Amino acid sequence: MLTSCAALEQKYSALLEERLGWRSLVSYVGNRNEPVLRWFRYKESFSAELVRRLIVEFNLNEKDFILDPFSGLGTTLYTAQGEGIPSAGVDLLPLSAFVADTLTKVRTLDLDEVSRNYRILIENVVKEKLNGEKFPDVPIISRAFTEDKIKELLLWRQAISKLPSEVQDFFMLLLLSVVESVSLTSKDGQFLRLIQRETPDIKTVFSKKYSQAYNDLLSIKTFQHGAILPDTHVFPRDARKLSELSFPKAPTAVITSPPYLNRYDYSRSYVLELCLNFIKDAEHLKEIRHSLLRSHIESKRNGDKPPHEAVAEILDLLSTKSMNNPKIPDMILGYFADMNEVIIQLSRVLMENAKVAVVVGNVRFEGIIIPVDMILSDMAERFGFHTEKIVITRYKGNSSQQMGKYGREKVRESVLIWSFQKKSNKK
Ligand SMILES: C[S@@+](CC[C@H](N)C(=O)[O-])C[C@H]1O[C@@H](n2cnc3c(N)ncnc32)[C@H](O)[C@@H]1O
Repeated sequence: MLTSCAALEQKYSALLEERLGWRSLVSYVGNRNEPVLRWFRYKESFSAELVRRLIVEFNLNEKDFILDPFSGLGTTLYTAQGEGIPSAGVDLLPLSAFVADTLTKVRTLDLDEVSRNYRILIENVVKEKLNGEKFPDVPIISRAFTEDKIKELLLWRQAISKLPSEVQDFFMLLLLSVVESVSLTSKDGQFLRLIQRETPDIKTVFSKKYSQAYNDLLSIKTFQHGAILPDTHVFPRDARKLSELSFPKAPTAVITSPPYLNRYDYSRSYVLELCLNFIKDAEHLKEIRHSLLRSHIESKRNGDKPPHEAVAEILDLLSTKSMNNPKIPDMILGYFADMNEVIIQLSRVLMENAKVAVVVGNVRFEGIIIPVDMILSDMAERFGFHTEKIVITRYKGNSSQQMGKYGREKVRESVLIWSFQKKSNKK
């Protein structure tokens, strides 16, 4: 008899479609030359071009309504807006919700006001004095910044907070975009790596960022001249509670990418940016960490049961291995339990016949490949979704070293294409 994972591979093999040319579209590399979206380096984003292609493939127009329950940088929302399509995004990380909200408002900025306030900011920042302002007491801060840099950042933040509200978020976004470059850290894989280097002063990197932003604004303003912008909403909320949100209408499409099951912790990678403007103290940071989808190693088991037989099978298999990190099984269980909840919530809020695209990566722990793409698809089918295809955009972990260790089995990164057929009464 086939095991659950093998049965899934058999069930979906006819729906696999390779589009390896999409490789760069599913990563932030595809946004490098994309005006506006290139300002803030959100390494986990996919590209505007991917969104544009999916909009065409799904045949969406201004009467549709696109939802991204994990909106991150806001790639889906910003791109949909450019195509005249209303959309809503949800992201529980306050930094991401802020960035997406700000980016989807830049098309309404008055460029004269922007340049006037830039000059005011540059003039005022040197006159600022700190009145006991501090960074939150989080241990990484004193290692990530020199004392002088902390002071400089606080002065910039203070000067920005005195600008008129219409341009404040835009300038705050630019400051957030240069935080990593003035720190002694680099976002490297799963962690912030500490590095030794001379850091530039904020004015140098901020002015450079501003020039890029201003030129991008000029180019999009010329392009969109006179266009009416569609409604765009960003909710700083939990994708596991979508049905508590009030959308202007039922979404007719989803273009999204949830966190991958790869131990990555957004609250650690973006801790410096969070500390600059979004969190009160270490306790608050921890609260955010534990509220995010359980894709990282500090995830806790909340009495969950495996939501799919394949998950139970994987957990059984892993229990026979000596794990590098004993918390991995809890993360796997928490991840699928959370994603099951997100799927249930989607089935409650979506319009019937909605089109869905979900970018996900499979993973391998202790040599065992977890077919996240197929498990999620099969889970979704239990709540009224139909799997149209699984578009493979790239294979990971097929370096000769990994091949030598684990054999030729490849780890897919895919776009799941589903359609939503009927409302679920379950749960
Ligand atoms: C892969 S990223 C999405 C990137 C996005 N497609 C883009 O282009 O920027 C996943 C996002 O899920 C967010 N997230 C994690 N847990 C969440 C939750 N429970 N509810 C909503 N968003 C969550 C993370 O903060 C992160 O921004």
